[in-house]
Amino acid sequence: MTETEWIIIRDVKEDDEVLKRAGRILALGGLVAFPTETVYGLGGDAKNPGSSKAIYAAKGRPSDNPLIVHICDINDLKNVALDVPDEAYRLAERFWPGPLTMILKKHPDIPVETTGGLDTVAVRFPDNEIALALIRYAGGFVAAPSANTSGRPSPTVGKYVYEDLAGKVDMILDGGSSVIGLESTIIDLTDEIPMVLRPGYITLEMLREVLPDTVLDPGIAAAGNGAGHKENGTGNIQDHEAGITGSAADAKEGLRPKAPGMKYRHYAPKGKLILVDGDEDKALVFVKEELKKRKAEGKRTGLILYEKGFDPGEGFTDADINEEYKADSVKIAGDSGGYEDLARDVFRFLREFDDEKIDYIYARVLPESGLGLAIMNRLKKAAGGNIVHL
Ligand code: TXA
Ligand code: MG
Repeated sequence: MTETEWIIIRDVKEDDEVLKRAGRILALGGLVAFPTETVYGLGGDAKNPGSSKAIYAAKGRPSDNPLIVHICDINDLKNVALDVPDEAYRLAERFWPGPLTMILKKHPDIPVETTGGLDTVAVRFPDNEIALALIRYAGGFVAAPSANTSGRPSPTVGKYVYEDLAGKVDMILDGGSSVIGLESTIIDLTDEIPMVLRPGYITLEMLREVLPDTVLDPGIAAAGNGAGHKENGTGNIQDHEAGITGSAADAKEGLRPKAPGMKYRHYAPKGKLILVDGDEDKALVFVKEELKKRKAEGKRTGLILYEKGFDPGEGFTDADINEEYKADSVKIAGDSGGYEDLARDVFRFLREFDDEKIDYIYARVLPESGLGLAIMNRLKKAAGGNIVHL
């Protein structure tokens, strides 16, 4: 058990001494959780194999699932990766600092403990002042996965970092709510064709403006679409301990996601998340029936609703559904319109449902264009294959 300091950072200049101290903790082999623009990270010194081992232990993460190396200066890219292609610099110019991670050939200074045994490395230059100050004070290279216990939704507020990591890290730097809310887009540049291994805020469409040939990992497109594919709670836990989800994609070896992390069950709330795919009227009837049934069973229900006028099409509203059977908890996304709000809030919603002891959560399937691809990727994983096609 480590004593964990939880410190709220209001201003990087005023709190410079704390950030220096946090940097020293990392340089000496300790662990510090910190905010980024995407989600919170669980940081350790990327060049210290012992720090990477400690990260895996604190997270309860399988050690074949590699970490992302965070830098704070583009000149350090060549100290993390070998033979950096021109494509990487073109992407960096457009999207760094920002929510894009690139997979490149590993530099010998980065230990295999950090890359989960691979000879490639994931690199990101985040866009958050607190993160950048910390990386600088730590010596320039911070390995960090998302700051959640393995399998849980990524934390986007300090409170949920504390919930998962208290007693396991030396310090938590709390910088308020993450502005993006979903983990970075990952692009693999080690093959001839650039491939997106994890969708995120930087969309395929945006990447293709710089590298027109960019494709989506076929294992991502296939994952989580299993019609009527159900996993029960115990099945999930066993699958997770075995390391791999029993998703439809695993049936065909060739369709497994290429990023090791994308094959694990992930982002799961404690309750059962059920995604509803189908036209609005049918979805409404289905959800009302479910609410009635679960109430009768004495279960607690939750809904994620999209505000009317939400641009991908109108979801159901609070009033539509709750006239007869009120759900125990209703979260409304898209208050200022659109996917960005949902991306920012969705992981927090899943965590709040846990706080509220919700047994069944319902959300509608959204169109997978633009940022919708990343949101549905996370929701499908969180649902563990529970999609009802109407
Ligand atoms: O936004 C983010 O990327 C956050 C913040 C903290 O920066 N970090 C994050 O890290 O999401 P993590 O560890 O939760 O996810 C990293 C993903 C995993 O799916 C992992 O398998 C993949 O990146 N990855 C890392 N190195 C890789 C490599 N060399 N080849 C393929 N995939 C890799
Ligand atoms: Mg993660």
